[in-house]
Amino acid sequence: MVKLQPSCRNPLQFSVFIRIFVTNLSLSEKSHRKHMEKKFKRTLVTTALPYANGPVHIGHLAGVYVPADIYVRYLRLKGEDVVMVGGSDEHGVPITIKARQEGVTPQDIVDRYHAIIRDSMKELGVSFDVYSRTTSDIHRATASEFFRRLYDKSEFIQKTSMQPYDEQAGEFLADRYVVGTCPHCGSDRAYGDQCEACGTSLNATDLINPHSALTSSPVVMKETTHWFLPLDKWEPKLREWILDGHKEWKTNVYGQCKSWLDMGLQPRAVSRDLSWGVPVPVEGAEGKVLYVWFDAPIGYISNTKEILPDSWEKYWKDPETRVINFIGKDNIVFHCIVFPAMLMAYGDGFQLPDNVPANEFLNLEGDKISTSRNWAVWLHEYLKDFPGKQDVLRYVLTANAPETKDNDFTWADFQQRNNSELVAILGNFVNRALVLTHKYFGGVVPAAAPADAENALMAEVRDLKAQISEALDTFHFREALKLAMDVARAGNRYLQETEPWKLAKTDMERTGAILNTALQLCANLAIVFEPFLPFMSGKLLKMLRTDKITWDMLGSFDIIPAGAEIGEPELLFEKIEDAQIQAQLDRLARIKKENELRNFRPKPQAEAVDFDTFAKCDFRVGTVLECEKVPKADKLLRFLIDDGMEKRTIVSGIAKYYKPEELVGKQVCFIANLPPRKLKGIESCGMLLSAENADGSLVLISPSAPVIPGVKIG
Ligand code: MF3
Ligand code: ZN
Repeated sequence: MVKLQPSCRNPLQFSVFIRIFVTNLSLSEKSHRKHMEKKFKRTLVTTALPYANGPVHIGHLAGVYVPADIYVRYLRLKGEDVVMVGGSDEHGVPITIKARQEGVTPQDIVDRYHAIIRDSMKELGVSFDVYSRTTSDIHRATASEFFRRLYDKSEFIQKTSMQPYDEQAGEFLADRYVVGTCPHCGSDRAYGDQCEACGTSLNATDLINPHSALTSSPVVMKETTHWFLPLDKWEPKLREWILDGHKEWKTNVYGQCKSWLDMGLQPRAVSRDLSWGVPVPVEGAEGKVLYVWFDAPIGYISNTKEILPDSWEKYWKDPETRVINFIGKDNIVFHCIVFPAMLMAYGDGFQLPDNVPANEFLNLEGDKISTSRNWAVWLHEYLKDFPGKQDVLRYVLTANAPETKDNDFTWADFQQRNNSELVAILGNFVNRALVLTHKYFGGVVPAAAPADAENALMAEVRDLKAQISEALDTFHFREALKLAMDVARAGNRYLQETEPWKLAKTDMERTGAILNTALQLCANLAIVFEPFLPFMSGKLLKMLRTDKITWDMLGSFDIIPAGAEIGEPELLFEKIEDAQIQAQLDRLARIKKENELRNFRPKPQAEAVDFDTFAKCDFRVGTVLECEKVPKADKLLRFLIDDGMEKRTIVSGIAKYYKPEELVGKQVCFIANLPPRKLKGIESCGMLLSAENADGSLVLISPSAPVIPGVKIG
């Protein structure tokens, strides 16, 4: 945590801060321009390797895989040499914990989830050139060799230290194997490496009451030896490379790097006492494996080797290769500090990333996405629930991408963007162009005859192309998508203004010229949307009976030759109905309930009370005679109760959970001898007894069989 210096809260200082920030922005813009002028021959795009301890969800997709895929498809359309590597991260404590929970082996877990992840990403159209895994032989050999070279070059420090140990299990407790109470927020589920409740990164020794996740026994400290990578040794080079050399990086990435570097780097352990992982390839290291964050990024190299056994080095060691790492914000330090330090220590020409466009987090319906709490929209489930709607998800996740701040996915927004953007703007334009061509010209492309309206449209598309290219080049995918949609908007406006359906009665030649332009614009849409909505683009090209497209062709209006025949119009998008959205909301509500149940901890028992005090409380049963809402108070109900003696008014805060008419005639329990209290001007004589659920909702207490009103409870 970076603590604010007291003086920073001074408003004067704050304005200075803002000014520096603004200057920095334009500086970063400038250095970006300068940077883009450097010509590269090829691009290697890496995507963070997801842990194979669960399927992938919309957070992974919005943060990493969808933007990376958009970028790669764009470069391919431009005819550039690009390779996209991905794979599953199959080592580390997240995997072994999951295996233990399910009573299966870690291999079972990674086999299951690797297959689900690989297949679902393929179905979503994420166009990896390779999607492999870190349990492959080639990866184990590559990671092992990497460690061994650093070891032989004396790049490690070997250190003996005290580490958490479980005496009952006879095992050291790495990272998440230690659980305890967070010293910052008091959550009793903090891990030895991080508290998920407040996000603080921790050491096992920071935890209050640390105990073992294996056996729950208290943690003891025991001596063990590990290898450390002295990050401090690389600090000057890292500073120069990032702080001086990459001012064009996103502010969130640059800022995080700067704060790590300014805090000063420490040696970092790169081995663990675990049985699952790549064995440390050194004598006397039995029972030790490489730390998962040491082996996983090497997976980028192994996976490149796997598909390009003869030319992989070109993509890693040639200064004319540009490496781009797509990741989420929790991976920044590993990609900008740790892995680059490993690559520098290795030497041999390995290139450092040229950019690390890390995204912030996506939330779901206002709550943090969480694999362990099942609070997620899982890709493989989405594909089952919304068959054929891959592009809708790609669209919504891009339109809402958490590029500069955390963002929220809601099902209402999903439906709205589909119905009023994809269907009403993009689908509608294409459909009108194709249907009218069939209606007036039997599906044969009429001749072009550009006039003012056409020239204006073409100029607009070309201008948009320049802006979209700029946005894509600088990883502003939301902006690029919005601008791409503007191309479709321009098409609708063009048809609205030229009204070919009216002209068709008088001027067939002009009608034809308009429809030719509309069809050319459809081809432009197929190009501009290919990176974002590849399924739509493919379908549209089929209807246009065209296949070869390039980014270069975007902005040209003679893509489909006059006289060519086009296919039958098919709808590109269909409306999503309320019932489908409701089903998703119901599922989330169910999960929320399940989580509340699982997390419920009874409140600690209250202080002892002596019998006489208890006996003074007069609990009774009564029958509800009248019940109604208290005006201008959304929580309160007013009861009139037959208590066997007289009629008694009680006001109770349960209006959210009951309809008043349901309660008339019911029997309720109450304390009779509390002093009367005025609530919203009504005198309440007593208090109804109710039970409070985990979610704070209230349930009235009633006798299990009818009793005479006024009887005492005790
Ligand atoms: N598995 C890690 C995570 O989900 C990411 C690993 S990225 C790599 O946070 F670089 F190590 F591969
Ligand atoms: Zn915490």
